[in-house]
Amino acid sequence: MAKTIYVLNGPNLNMLGTREPETYGHATLADVEKLCADTAARFGLNADCRRSNSEGELVDFIHEAHAKKAAGIVINAGAYSHTSIALHDALVAVQIPAVEVHISNVYAREEFRHHSFTAKAAFASLCGFGIDGYRLAINGLAAKIGAKAKS
Ligand code: DQA
Repeated sequence: MAKTIYVLNGPNLNMLGTREPETYGHATLADVEKLCADTAARFGLNADCRRSNSEGELVDFIHEAHAKKAAGIVINAGAYSHTSIALHDALVAVQIPAVEVHISNVYAREEFRHHSFTAKAAFASLCGFGIDGYRLAINGLAAKIGAKAKS
């Protein structure tokens, strides 16, 4: 059976496409989720994409990934990346290889975006590539978990 990776998006990412396009671009969340599904499929992986504005629900998704024996997690927790010890602890608790993604280059922005709790619990973190960061994250995650590209 194909392995599953969870792709978790946090608050305000449902607004992609209309939200600050000069920072986040014009692609929508549906575009992101399609990109993730297509990229995962290249490695024979299923992408289970979830999104929530609620910190607790994101914690629940991480627990669910553990319960369903997910092979990896890609997470853009939005602003919770910078504030949420609960998301950090959930990622550490489940011990599933995780990659953090930010669409924007958080280091070129306000100082409050320069620290990330989710990055501390992830094996890698990407920012500033626009939505292509999700494709790059899945490529890196596939390499980490030994999923080979299908020819
Ligand atoms: C973001 C960066 C965060 O600082 C911000 O709060 C977001 C989006 C990004 O993808 O660039 O909501 O995670």
